[in-house]
Amino acid sequence: MKNKTLLIVGSLAFILLVISFFDDTDNRGEWYGPNDFTHRITADAPVKAILEKACFDCHSNKTNYRWYNDVPPVSLLLNNHVNEGKKELNFSEFATYSAKRAKHKLEEIAEQIENGEMPMKPYLLTHAEAKLSDEEKALLITWSKNAMAEIH
Ligand code: HEC
Repeated sequence: MKNKTLLIVGSLAFILLVISFFDDTDNRGEWYGPNDFTHRITADAPVKAILEKACFDCHSNKTNYRWYNDVPPVSLLLNNHVNEGKKELNFSEFATYSAKRAKHKLEEIAEQIENGEMPMKPYLLTHAEAKLSDEEKALLITWSKNAMAEIH
C-alpha cells in the first residue's frame, strides 16, 4: 500500500516535471516601449503604479515571475492567464490598437473593475498586493473613462 502511494506520488511529480520542461511560456520583455499605452493616452504616476502592480503580470510584455510561478500547476495556470490576458489587452502594445478597439478596451477596464472581475480571483491568492482598495478602483475607473476621450 505504501509502495503504491509512493509510486503514484512519484509518477505525478515526474509528469509535472516533464510538463514544466515543455512549457516554454516566457513573458520577459519590457512594460514600456514604443507601443505602450502612454503613447496614446495620459496616465499619471499613481495610475501607472496600480496597473503595474495589479495588471501588468497578465496584460503587458513583462510578468514578474516569483519562484512558485515555475512550479506546476501554478506555472500552467499563470501562463495560461498571461497568454489569454495579453491577447485581450496588452498595455505594452496598446498604442497599436485601432481607435475602436482602444476605446472598447478602456470601456472594458472600467466595467471589469466596477464588477470586481479584475484582477482575477485565483491570482489574488498569491498576489495580495494586487487587491485594489476602493480608492484605487475609483482612480482606475475615472482614468479609463477620461482616457476614452483622448482616443480619436
Ligand atoms: C492573473 C492574470 C490577470 C491579471 C493580474 C489581470 N487580468 Fe485582466 N484578464 C486576464 C484574462 C485571462 C482575461 C481574459 C479572460 C477573461 O476575460 O476572463 C482578462 C481580461 C481582461 C479584460 C477584458 C478585455 C476584453 O476586451 O474583454 C480587461 C479589460 C482586463 N482584463 C483588465 C484588467 C485590469 C485593469 C487588471 C488590473 C487591475 C487586470 N485585468 C488584471 C488576466 C488577468
